[in-house]
Amino acid sequence: MDIQFKILRYDPIKDEAPHFRNYTSRPDPKDSILEAIKQIRDEQDPSLSFRYSCREAVCGSCAMVINGAITLACRTTVESLKIGRIVIEPLPNLEIQKDLIVDMDPFYLSMKTIQPYLLPSEEPPETGHRIIERKMENIDQYINCIWCGSCYAACPVASRDHRYLGPAALAKLYRFIKDPRDGRPSTHWKIVDNEKGLWGCDTVFRCNEVCPKEVRPADGIEGLRREIIAHKAKKLLKKKS
Ligand code: FES
Repeated sequence: MDIQFKILRYDPIKDEAPHFRNYTSRPDPKDSILEAIKQIRDEQDPSLSFRYSCREAVCGSCAMVINGAITLACRTTVESLKIGRIVIEPLPNLEIQKDLIVDMDPFYLSMKTIQPYLLPSEEPPETGHRIIERKMENIDQYINCIWCGSCYAACPVASRDHRYLGPAALAKLYRFIKDPRDGRPSTHWKIVDNEKGLWGCDTVFRCNEVCPKEVRPADGIEGLRREIIAHKAKKLLKKKS
């Protein structure tokens, strides 16, 4: 069956404004949208640009807007979209570099700021770390983040201020703070204890809605807030005693 695709196009070299271009294609209904746009590129328009790598919802590079919803193109099938015309746009709130490719630098910079890796305070034991399952439950969902930037693109706070660290970075920091192997000092929290960090969140939960891996970044932000308040209260009590 023929399907109409309406895809946002933009080429900075041509000095043209972003605009939609229509294509008619006949993908297999079981194909992913990623396969469908590859087919369009291969058969109709080799200049159509988009990112992808794993095709398995692992690398996070194919996040885009499909029929108004932020999602991964590689895990959205043609048949799952009930309407006859499929509209595809790049992620919002990030500058378009070409067609469906956006500049991910603001997102990656925010991730880099929180040092998204283990910072142990001592040498790991020779036998390796043993972590009780209950402690892992606290952080399991945040480990599933694939850095696709969907939550950052959907976040209304990040959209009006790129200095805001965004949901993924804040949830990632919570993940490491709750990891018993991590020993980062509490001074590390200073970078997020402000309006550009966890106090900037408007708690509208768009990040939870759009995450393709069912991570709930807003929960991580809430967790981080609780941790910091408890830490400050403890410090205050210590001073008074
Ligand atoms: S291509 Fe890797 S997540 Fe879609």
